Amino acid sequence: MAPNIIVDSWKANNLPTKILRAWLGVTWFYAGWQKASDAGFLSKASATYLGAQLAGFAKHSPVGWILARLVHFAQPLGWFVLLAELAIGIAVLTGAYIQLAAIGGALVSLGLWLSVTWTANPYFLGSDSAYLVMWIVLLFAIRAQQKKSSSDGLVPNLTDRRNVLQLIGVGAASILSAIAGGFFKKSVPVKSAGKEIVKLSDFPVGSTMQYTASDGNPAFLFRTNVGVFAYSAVCTHQGCVVSYTSQTKTLDCPCHGGQFDPFNGGNVVAGPPPSALPTYKVSISGNSIVAG
Ligand code: FES
Repeated sequence: MAPNIIVDSWKANNLPTKILRAWLGVTWFYAGWQKASDAGFLSKASATYLGAQLAGFAKHSPVGWILARLVHFAQPLGWFVLLAELAIGIAVLTGAYIQLAAIGGALVSLGLWLSVTWTANPYFLGSDSAYLVMWIVLLFAIRAQQKKSSSDGLVPNLTDRRNVLQLIGVGAASILSAIAGGFFKKSVPVKSAGKEIVKLSDFPVGSTMQYTASDGNPAFLFRTNVGVFAYSAVCTHQGCVVSYTSQTKTLDCPCHGGQFDPFNGGNVVAGPPPSALPTYKVSISGNSIVAG
């Protein structure tokens, strides 16, 4: 897209629209980039695997029956979401089909609200409902301000060569960004079943410790009279790292007050997290506690 067209698209907006457009464009591009560079997002070996997240969201979402089916298509869905976020961010920043991008952003935000942040309580702790409103506001603001031209319409006129080239440009830039994000991936460590976490003698009954799980994510290990067990330390709400509070015997999230009970399946006991903490397999082998 020619630089002068991008500049003109920004000049056509008033200041509040420019601010909203910049925030949404940068944030959505970053959201797509983050997924592209997250080695765990599409890896079944990871605690942050999209399929595992969908299975957790399905338990509490009003569209849980859809999410439960999407678990089987988590990898293509993940690619679709990350490319859509990159494309929406690029379209909003460059001015190519902003109205279409705003509708796409609103639909994705609605989907995330109904799944990821539906249980946020109070509702304003979840960001997706706010993004849904921002996209609707941007759509109406752009419609009110944009001069009519062949590329300004809601639906691209595919008989116009410039429109087709713009669409191809946004698509190609999204794919190239996804590929570039992949270069920043840290590889998901191969599952290291049998790898020692701690010596049994150093971890008596009643002990708790944080360790790094085989997929590189933080986790908590517990030993009680009934054996050893472990949970991901990544909060199922928005991914903050939880910590153990010995007084309350809970795993507490510092971000929005989420609280999990490690002695009852990692279930949520307070706050907005939509599902229990995922578990990691651990066992006692000889004089060691090992992964797997
Ligand atoms: S990230 Fe929101 S409660 Fe944990």
